[in-house]
Amino acid sequence: MKKNKISKNWINRQKRDIYVRQSKIEGFKSRAVYKLKEIDEKFKIFKGVNSVVDLGAAPGSWSQYAANKIKSENVLSIDLLKFEKIKNSFQIIGDFTDEIYKKAIRKYFGKKINLIISDMAVNTIGNKDVDSIVTGELCIEAMNFAKEELEKNGIFVSKIFMGSSFNEIVAEAKKYFKEVRVFKPLASRKNSKETFIICKFLR
Ligand SMILES: C[S@@+](CC[C@H](N)C(=O)[O-])C[C@H]1O[C@@H](n2cnc3c(N)ncnc32)[C@H](O)[C@@H]1O
Repeated sequence: MKKNKISKNWINRQKRDIYVRQSKIEGFKSRAVYKLKEIDEKFKIFKGVNSVVDLGAAPGSWSQYAANKIKSENVLSIDLLKFEKIKNSFQIIGDFTDEIYKKAIRKYFGKKINLIISDMAVNTIGNKDVDSIVTGELCIEAMNFAKEELEKNGIFVSKIFMGSSFNEIVAEAKKYFKEVRVFKPLASRKNSKETFIICKFLR
């Protein structure tokens, strides 16, 4: 399909999408917020939480949701891309996989973190299998960080794609967390291979 046809389809789909409309009405930066909201409603991930790291945060709807939920400045948002500063959050622009930024996150909190959420993904307009593998690698990076930086009862939530690395990622998560669930919110498009892993209680 030609590139301008793809973007026309994308624009039409956005116009029809109820979550896009709802996010505009409610002042959220993107429809992605409703995925996090569903995850939160089902798994109560913000209960008792005082510190949150949002990986792959741009344009910022998950950070907006987190900042509303915890009502303190303990939300740190990081993304490769520049994005508008989210109220009540600390922003880093950089590659999360780079050790410099991991250090910066550790330094910002100076203690273990309650909740790490990751919606990191590579550009999904390319080859779907490759995208899914690379996004899987980002999830593993985030999980490795989470197992070092979360407090004992901490929670890790991450986007993953159904695909070749899916089973491996779930198995890895079960090594480190006592409770591991996979959940696809209604707001996640049916034709997308995206789903989410919710990991609670470090072993
Ligand atoms: C689906 S978007 C996130 C949407 C966001 N949760 C929201 O609610 O607005 C995925 C983001 O992951 C970011 N990303 C991908 N790889 C990254 C990396 N290595 N470090 C930081 N951000 C990354 C991309 O730049 C992109 O903005």
